Amino acid sequence: MNECLQQAYQIREMQLDDVRRVIQIEREIFLFPWTEMNFSDSIRAGYHCRVLEQDDTLMGYGIMMMGLDEAHILTIGISAQWQHQGWGGRLLQYFINLAKQQQAASVLLDVRESNIGAANLYRRLGFKQIAIRKGYYPAMCGREDALVMRLEL
Ligand SMILES: CC(C)(COP(=O)(O)OP(=O)(O)OC[C@H]1O[C@@H](n2cnc3c(N)ncnc32)[C@H](O)[C@@H]1OP(=O)(O)O)[C@@H](O)C(=O)NCCC(=O)NCCS
Repeated sequence: MNECLQQAYQIREMQLDDVRRVIQIEREIFLFPWTEMNFSDSIRAGYHCRVLEQDDTLMGYGIMMMGLDEAHILTIGISAQWQHQGWGGRLLQYFINLAKQQQAASVLLDVRESNIGAANLYRRLGFKQIAIRKGYYPAMCGREDALVMRLEL
C-alpha cells in the first residue's frame, strides 16, 4: 500500500465553511469549475456532499445525489498535488458503499469524453459506458460529449 494511504484520513460531510477551500481545488483542476453557489446549494439541498482530508489538509471532495433507486455522482475532485496516489479511487469507493447503504440499484455519472484518466478509474471500479450525451459539456472550442457511465450494485 502507498505510504501516504497508511496515514490517518477521513471522509466527512462537507460544511458551508469548507466551500472556500473546495472552490480553490475546483478552480485548480477544472477548466469549467462549479461556482461557490453550486456547492452551497448542494449542501442545502441535502445531497451527499463529502470532503476527504488528512490532518488539516482538504485533499478532495465529491457530491452524490440520490434518485429513486439510482445514485448520481455529480462531481468528484482531488487536488492536483494528491492525484494518482489512490485517493480518487478511495473516495469513489466510499460513494459506492454509501449508495449501497441507501439501497440504490446503480450509480450513474457523466465524464467528459477527453477525460481518459477519470474514465479509466471508473472502469477499474466496474462502471460501464451506457450512453453518450452529445455536446453536453462546454469546451474551449464549442462543446464536448459526455460519456454516461453506470455501475450496477
Ligand atoms: C479523476 C480524479 C478524481 C481521480 O483521482 P486520483 O486520486 O488521481 O485517482 P487514483 O489515484 O485513485 O487513480 C488514478 C490513476 O492513478 C493510478 N494510481 C493509483 N495509485 C497510484 C500510485 N500509488 N502511484 C501511481 N499511480 C497510481 C491509478 O492506477 C489510476 O490510473 P488509471 O487512471 O490509469 O487507472 C482526479 O484525477 C481529479 O480530480 N481530476 C480532475 C477533476 C476530474 O476530472 N474529475 C472527474 C470528473 S468526471
